[in-house]
Amino acid sequence: MNLVKFLPVLIISSLTTRVKCDFFFSPILSGFHQIANLMKHIKCNFMECCTNEYVSPDIDMLDDILHQNLYGQEIVHHVVVNALRGHLTSPDPPKALSMSFHGPPGTGKTYISQMIAKFLYKKGDQSEFYHFFNGRTDFPLQEKVNDYKEELYKIIINSLQKCERSMFVFDEVDKMPEGLLNILVPFLDYNTWMKSWRLASSTVNTRKAIYIFLSNTGSSRITQRLLALWKEGKQRNIARMPDFENLISVGAFNEKGGFYHSDTIDSNLIDHYVPFLPLEEVHVKKCLKRAFENRGVQPTDEMIEEGLSYVIFGPPPYNLYATAGCKRLEQKVAAIIYARRKKKLEL
Ligand SMILES: Nc1ncnc2c1ncn2[C@@H]1O[C@H](COP(=O)(O)OP(=O)(O)OP(=O)(O)O)[C@@H](O)[C@H]1O
Ligand SMILES: [Mg+2]
Repeated sequence: MNLVKFLPVLIISSLTTRVKCDFFFSPILSGFHQIANLMKHIKCNFMECCTNEYVSPDIDMLDDILHQNLYGQEIVHHVVVNALRGHLTSPDPPKALSMSFHGPPGTGKTYISQMIAKFLYKKGDQSEFYHFFNGRTDFPLQEKVNDYKEELYKIIINSLQKCERSMFVFDEVDKMPEGLLNILVPFLDYNTWMKSWRLASSTVNTRKAIYIFLSNTGSSRITQRLLALWKEGKQRNIARMPDFENLISVGAFNEKGGFYHSDTIDSNLIDHYVPFLPLEEVHVKKCLKRAFENRGVQPTDEMIEEGLSYVIFGPPPYNLYATAGCKRLEQKVAAIIYARRKKKLEL
């Protein structure tokens, strides 16, 4: 009865208190807010922040650069650009983007990963949101797999807390301890948010990140399939993704290394298995030409032929593909230029 009598008084007094508080505190709060924004602005002038200024994917530009600089990898170009476009233009992607690059040495797996970082972050592969792990050197011991899992988990969570658009590249996955990549399952899954006792009270959006796995797993299958297409008289550039995709996912699951019987593959969390085809003479010549030009030399046919003489082609009997792709050509080109200059001086 008494409570009902006092109810209007209580309501009026709570309203006036609210008004009084807002009246006194809102300028102070907005002042704090403005100071915090100003501090952030000043900080972001000197340090990398997860803002549009530092994280600004330019996929059209990447598309152009790949057209000019990535040789003989039409499938890769098509799949990677479309996957990135779909993922990066969506304000709310359904899951993190995960791609697994497979192919022989020197075909451009590391090269394109670094290019992606360059077009995603203002600081390129020097960005603190870009992480590169090497299976052989960063995770050398099978018996320490549980420690590595813990470390990896922390690195990923920390990075995602700083920037949801973080990128993680795992090179030489085939040299990684088995089971390590299972730690990635919750990050790659269709989770909206990740909440864990390790995160105390905060949650992390896992869906905007990009994960790329690099390995030579499946190389011989890719080469044999391409060779079979060639024998059927089919051009390399009409080879299609379905010709290879299943081939490598099954291979990756069954070949020793990081993906061996992995939950990551078992639960279909890899979005794209991307086949890097072995490079042919025509592509190696382009790499040689570029390597000369990068050193300010316009190469003659003779110089290109000299560079080509160092390249080994296989598999027999057709010997169509460079066994190490375009790898280590820069060093050969440097040696050729040096030898020619020396010879000129001696004459
Ligand atoms: N398809 C390509 N188009 C243009 N340049 C290429 C291509 N493939 C390789 N290169 C050149 O060769 C160099 C070595 O290639 P890269 O390191 O990407 O090979 P990879 O596929 O990662 O090999 P590995 O499996 O041994 O790690 C690159 O830095 C680039 O200059
Ligand atoms: Mg590599």
